[in-house]
Amino acid sequence: MNKAIIISVANHKGGVGKTATTVGLGGALQSKGFRVLLIDADGQANLTDSLGFSMDMDKTLYEALKGKEELPICKHEDGIDVVPACLDLSAAEAELMNEPGRETILSSLLQPIRKNYDFILIDCPPSLSLLTLNAMTASDSLIIPVQAEYLAMRGMGKLVNVIDKVKKRLNPNLKIEGILLTMYDGRKNLHQSVAETVQETFKDDVFATMIRTNVAIAESTSAKQDVFHYAPKSNGAQDYLKLADEIIAHHNL
Ligand SMILES: Nc1ncnc2c1ncn2[C@@H]1O[C@H](COP(=O)(O)OP(=O)(O)OP(=O)(O)O)[C@@H](O)[C@H]1O
Ligand SMILES: [Mg+2]
Repeated sequence: MNKAIIISVANHKGGVGKTATTVGLGGALQSKGFRVLLIDADGQANLTDSLGFSMDMDKTLYEALKGKEELPICKHEDGIDVVPACLDLSAAEAELMNEPGRETILSSLLQPIRKNYDFILIDCPPSLSLLTLNAMTASDSLIIPVQAEYLAMRGMGKLVNVIDKVKKRLNPNLKIEGILLTMYDGRKNLHQSVAETVQETFKDDVFATMIRTNVAIAESTSAKQDVFHYAPKSNGAQDYLKLADEIIAHHNL
């Protein structure tokens, strides 16, 4: 591949598995031999922290967005590359508000390094803020994790609305890679009925793969590894591998 496919993992609802998906899918794609870069675009810096990088580094996405640095790339010992975030990242949003072309800063930063990777995955914050708009503007497609829980679909209308506006105004080529059901437990009637509703509503836009509830996903965070390297045989690792296969097939890779 001569330039990376850029995918944002976005949903303004909190705690639905955005970070777990960015890290798990990244690990799965990397294990299949693809060159992967993960970008932490969330001021909570969960992705940075969950892969064992410090949130107090001098060079993070924040400095790059402010135009002080190029994108800083940290190398994880398992082989994945990461652009870390810091807790100041949320402040960057306020500082960038008056910048011309404020929604396209990340896109411009990614162009020179795009040829070095096969996939660039961006972990978005739980908001529809300037960082999320930058991620959507920089991306070829979006993965939208939806937790298989009560009120899962709440807020989806708003998200779809924002995606439509980004397509009209900033990035006409933006696609939906897929809606991903997460933390799914097939033994629970509620989860089954949420999955059915999501599938009936979004039809072909829903991934066939669902990410099951799996303790290894939560544990891998404290082990500072992706679930694939932490517990390759776990359901969590297997599900993200299946998701990677679905995406690879979709792009004919
Ligand atoms: N499939 C899963 N099985 C079990 N636990 C999971 C699974 N996916 C995510 N988790 C756990 O659920 C919590 C929320 O997941 P995660 O941090 O990925 O969500 P998020 O959407 O990134 O949250 P935020 O909106 O705060 O950024 C985390 O503690 C994570 O370890
Ligand atoms: Mg997160």
